[in-house]
Parts: sequence; C-alpha cells; structure tokens
Amino acid sequence: MRIELTVNGERREADVWEGESLLFALRERLGLPGSKNACEQGECGSCSVLLDGKLVCACLVLAAQAAGHEVVTVEGLAHEGELHRVQQAFSETGAVQCGFCTPGLIVATADLLERNASPSDDEIREALSGNLCRCTGYAKIFDAVRLAAER
Ligand code: FES
Ligand code: FES
Repeated sequence: MRIELTVNGERREADVWEGESLLFALRERLGLPGSKNACEQGECGSCSVLLDGKLVCACLVLAAQAAGHEVVTVEGLAHEGELHRVQQAFSETGAVQCGFCTPGLIVATADLLERNASPSDDEIREALSGNLCRCTGYAKIFDAVRLAAER
C-alpha cells in the first residue's frame, strides 16, 4: 500500500506492507536511519519519534497508522545546519557512548523541555523512564538534559 505522510516538515510517500512498522518505513523506505531499532518491542525507546507532537515508539506504530500524520525524527530537530540545543548538550556533556540510545533520548528530552522548560530531576527521570541506556549510567544524560534546560 502507498502512504503519504509529513516527515520532518516534508511531504513524503512510501510503499509499505500492511504490517510494517513506522520505524521500518522511516529507516528502510525513507532514508532516515537516526531512529534506532534496538528491541522492536516497545521496551527501549531507541526508536522514539514525535507523531503529531506526541512521543511514541516508532516500532509500535504501523506505518499505515502514520498516513496523513506528521512525524518528527531526530534528524528533524536540527535547523538549517544548526544542532538542536538538546543535540548540542548531549555532545558537549559526553552523554553519548555507543550512541544506540541517543536519538531516542534526544527526541524524548526535546519533548520534555517543550512541555516543561525547567524539569526537576524526578521529572527528568519520569520523562526518560522509557529510554534505556546500557553504557552511560545516566549521569551524563542528566547533565545533558540540565544543560539543555539552562539554555
Ligand atoms: S526499538 Fe522501539 S522501543 Fe525498542
Ligand atoms: S550510549 Fe550506549 S546504550 Fe546509551
């Protein structure tokens, strides 16, 4: 089936099969490999994207369900070649090790800061509870979120 959707502000079309996930369509059909596929079961958050402004796991959404809707991926956060402040903060604080969790954490953090410009540590913990990281121990990730919030 052919779907049309808006991805990172651009109208896009893709041929997908009925059971295909939005994550697969983004990565394999639309050339956007930023969203990562770590579990494909809604457990890790590495595939986090915004669907009509709501944070979702792209592995749990059918591509067909996104037809006619608006998706923002980690690639869509940078603006005119400038990194988003959350991307910049993750880079500056050393919150990236293997990087597999990073795109999802950045999208989730950008979503948090849109809703809450100055989150407490508990609010950060709650907002990022769906995003697992095996490398950093989360301390640097918290530093990155605090730095992005300050800015
Ligand atoms: S790949 Fe979607 S939650 Fe893990
Ligand atoms: S940096 Fe490796 S899983 Fe988070």
